[in-house]
Amino acid sequence: MKEPKTLARTRGIALRVTADFVLVQAAMFIALTVAGVYSQVAGGYSPREYLNALRSYHLLVFTPLSLVFPLFYSLGGLYTRARSWTSPSRLWRGAVCAALSAGVVLLAGRLVPGSPGLPRSAALVFALLVIVAAPGVRLVKDTLFEEDSRSGSGPETVLVVGGAGYIGSILVRKLLQRKYRVRVLDNLIYGDSAIRDVLGHPRLEFQKGDCRNIKDVVKAMAGVRSVVHLAAIVGDPACDQDHQTAREINYAATRMMIEVAKGEKVGRFVFASSCSVYGASDEVMTEISEPCPISLYAATKVDSEEALLAAESETFHPTILRFATIFGLSPRPRFDLVVNLLTAKARQEGLITIFNGEQWRPFLHVHDAAEAIARVLGAPVELVGGEIYNIGDQRLNYTLTNISELIRTVFPRTRVEHMENTDRRSYRVSFDKVHSQLGFECSRDVKAGILELKQAFDEGAIVDYKHPLYSNVKYLEKHGTPRHNDETGAQVMAALANKPSSSRAAAAVA
Ligand SMILES: NC(=O)c1ccc[n+]([C@@H]2O[C@H](COP(=O)([O-])OP(=O)(O)OC[C@H]3O[C@@H](n4cnc5c(N)ncnc54)[C@H](O)[C@@H]3O)[C@@H](O)[C@H]2O)c1
Repeated sequence: MKEPKTLARTRGIALRVTADFVLVQAAMFIALTVAGVYSQVAGGYSPREYLNALRSYHLLVFTPLSLVFPLFYSLGGLYTRARSWTSPSRLWRGAVCAALSAGVVLLAGRLVPGSPGLPRSAALVFALLVIVAAPGVRLVKDTLFEEDSRSGSGPETVLVVGGAGYIGSILVRKLLQRKYRVRVLDNLIYGDSAIRDVLGHPRLEFQKGDCRNIKDVVKAMAGVRSVVHLAAIVGDPACDQDHQTAREINYAATRMMIEVAKGEKVGRFVFASSCSVYGASDEVMTEISEPCPISLYAATKVDSEEALLAAESETFHPTILRFATIFGLSPRPRFDLVVNLLTAKARQEGLITIFNGEQWRPFLHVHDAAEAIARVLGAPVELVGGEIYNIGDQRLNYTLTNISELIRTVFPRTRVEHMENTDRRSYRVSFDKVHSQLGFECSRDVKAGILELKQAFDEGAIVDYKHPLYSNVKYLEKHGTPRHNDETGAQVMAALANKPSSSRAAAAVA
């Protein structure tokens, strides 16, 4: 699988390098022609003199020097990352790379011994042409070919499974802003309050249903090119409430959804996994580090990842996003996540309890989590298909003690109590891959998240952070885990869940 993908990528890059090289030569040809015509009109060079100057400068001096263009373009990321940038950023960076390359080439051309040099008018025309051509040609290509192939006859429809949750409710709004059509499949375990205000949006279709139910999934995937799968029983304590349901929703449903997606010709399948697959380790974990799940929740994520990657084909392109622990405000705030919970406790009670304290965790703002998903949806499938990305930012790897210190900078009177327990989950994570391939970096740090939660409390937007609606585990304790409403479906799910692709689930629970 990997080999043809790498080859295709290399061929694509080679084509773009060649096209840029040809464009630069054409720009010089036009510039010299303009200068020649101008010199004739102004009574300077004769046509023969002009032709000689053109040949000697263009062929002997400029052509070898013009290799600087592909070199600078590639250093600037135009061949590897440009299609994951926003359009204005792509234009801007293309123009900057072209301007720098032109400056270096024209200056170096003057310094070459014996070089006839370039008339100032030709230098000016050349520089203008390449500065416009480098970003322009990319924009035209994207507009003519990629947008068309991505969207078919109208804006592309993205199915967000679990779109009414903490991350999903932000993602759905983001995708609507970016002009996608969005279909949400969610069984609304925690209600619809997080998406109620967008339900009337003309490009949003909401389907209440269960991702374990094949009929719901078939209906939801009809006509869809991309799926973002966020639905899950989220978190270790929530999964520990009911192992069978957790296995079914978090793993068996993924297996069934893969088959339906393939049948419905869904091309992209973006799966929300978690950095908790790394378990406990002193190393800095990268996407090629061996997962070591130490909870059922993490084990179901690893099993789903494996099922998805094994299903990759010419037409089915799964992408695995291993999110850091999320924090921050969303239409469905969660206070069962460490930063949010500690912030709420500091604000409301003035006392926070840190268990152990020295364990490392990577953190990620919920808006940045949604942005990362949108980036992956906008990136070429040949780049992101079959890939795993850790989603977060190197600067947001913290120990829990660091988090308590950050909270004290916002709530200075907070007392911090230290206790020991058996939770030894600790991992530091590298986010280099998503940064270098997709240019992704976090826009909000932990302190910004703490401040926005403080503001929500100050303004009365959140009153009782202990309400079960804000905590998956408390809600499921109170209302029970969601049951099947279809006997046959339940049997299918049980069969898929009880046939794990690895022994991790069993090992994690034992
Ligand atoms: N929040 C985090 O810190 C974090 C970290 C890493 C990974 N993730 C992953 O990101 C995804 C989203 O997390 P979240 O924090 O938004 O969770 P969430 O619990 O707020 O949202 C999950 C959504 O899925 C829906 N859902 C659950 N079971 C369903 C089913 N059987 N059928 C249809 N819908 C169902 C729920 O109603 C809810 O709207 C999850 O897969 C989670 O494992 C989250």
